[in-house]
Amino acid sequence: MRVDVITIFPDYFGPLSLSLIGKARGTGLLDLEVHDLRTWTSDVHRTVDDTPYGGGPGMVMRPEPWGQALAAVGPGTLVVPSPVGKPFTQADAAALASLDHLIFACGRYEGIDQRVIDDAATRMPVLEVSLGDYVLFGGEVAVIVIMEAVTRLLPGVLGNADSLTEESHAAGLLEAPVYTKPASWRELDVPDVLRSGDHGRIARWRRDQALLRTASRRPDMMAGYPPSSLDKADRKT
Ligand code: ADE
Repeated sequence: MRVDVITIFPDYFGPLSLSLIGKARGTGLLDLEVHDLRTWTSDVHRTVDDTPYGGGPGMVMRPEPWGQALAAVGPGTLVVPSPVGKPFTQADAAALASLDHLIFACGRYEGIDQRVIDDAATRMPVLEVSLGDYVLFGGEVAVIVIMEAVTRLLPGVLGNADSLTEESHAAGLLEAPVYTKPASWRELDVPDVLRSGDHGRIARWRRDQALLRTASRRPDMMAGYPPSSLDKADRKT
């Protein structure tokens, strides 16, 4: 997968050289390049922002550098993290992981001139996504989050593909709690069932815990869980 990130803060992306993303880049599964938006400015001050039409606080990113930047790295699927985007989900991560070329546009200040997005949309798919109902300084950290979610779904990145199908959100439920050795710690014991070796009972326990956790912590998610996915034993939970 090819990924181009356009930002005024290339240094933010140091962490994308670490851990499994760094390894995916090393092995060629991920070809990621970070570009400084100011490369595409033409004035001595390398200006990327200006005051908003209509007034109001803050600054807006000017369209010209963005137009040139997107022409230079595109076309691809343009992803624009923004608090006004649609909520980013595991399904979006899976959809992005199936594409050959992603372009991330990192907005700062009050955002990017809307015409950049409207113009790009005439040439390529555009996805405006929000990580949650809060406001960050800019899109950089959001891109790191999205790239983690996407990279771990690329074939060959995770050793054990089972961990993808079993995990939280993949099945529309939160995962059950997990434990490791020692069996007893600070007078807290690992649930007996997990040490029983009875795989049927363990699967049932995990399923119950997933249902209980999801219902109590994420009623919104539980409400969207298809009743047809519940079996007879689930209904007792
Ligand atoms: N940029 C600023 N706030 C953001 C958010 N909540 N999600 C994604 N990108 C953002």
